[in-house]
Amino acid sequence: MIWAMTRDISPSFDQCQLTHLPRVPLDVERARAQHEAYEWALVELGCTVRRIDAGPDLPDSVFIEDTAVVFPEAAVIARPGAATRQPETAAVRDALRRFGMPMRDMAEPATLDGGDVLLIGRQVFIGSSTRTNETAVNQMRRFLRPLGYKVRIVPVEGCLHLKSAVTAVAPDTVIINRAWVPADAFTGLDTIDVDPDEPAGANALLLGDVVVYAAGFPKTRARLEDKGLRVHVVDVDELAKAEGGVTCCSLVFQT
Ligand code: GLY
Repeated sequence: MIWAMTRDISPSFDQCQLTHLPRVPLDVERARAQHEAYEWALVELGCTVRRIDAGPDLPDSVFIEDTAVVFPEAAVIARPGAATRQPETAAVRDALRRFGMPMRDMAEPATLDGGDVLLIGRQVFIGSSTRTNETAVNQMRRFLRPLGYKVRIVPVEGCLHLKSAVTAVAPDTVIINRAWVPADAFTGLDTIDVDPDEPAGANALLLGDVVVYAAGFPKTRARLEDKGLRVHVVDVDELAKAEGGVTCCSLVFQT
């Protein structure tokens, strides 16, 4: 079964962390409606959605991807790089534990946001960002090497997370903004560049052979479709004002 764990939008959503975008008023109800439509899209694509409560004082908790990285063998509970986000992990840990999967916890002084971790086959790309440090990369290496994964560190500049700059759109293909991450880190994979007018268009969620993709990047979407990829469009512009994208609103895993 394919699960998508999501988290409700907190009433304090408008106090979210921001790193690269200016703060603008957020419409919490509009964000909730978009989030619900996103969850229905995941259901339509075969996921069983489990939504957990937001936490009234956890403004960024809807961006559940940052709190854990779920591998087929174990879940790694992250230690988010923004101090306000660290309390988000407790509820996610409890929810994942109910699936009976082995758990690993990142330990201080490591900081890591799950949005900085891109898994492609047995390769784990970890973004070196304002949220994720080298100690975290070393801890991930220690967790993952015995499981046969190869961990590669990728510098990230100009955006929040690695997955703001590059994500998988097929098993062997990434969509990338090479102004934010070096393309040579992904040698061996095919690359599709974002349209220059859509620098934030590299965040896509691959579910089976379907790319869940934000409505706000039509020129980049055309590039994906020109390559024969199936794209399922969702409207997430209110969430994007809080620096959220289609990957960070769910933790997708299989049991
Ligand atoms: N608002 C998303 C984040 O900064 O983590």
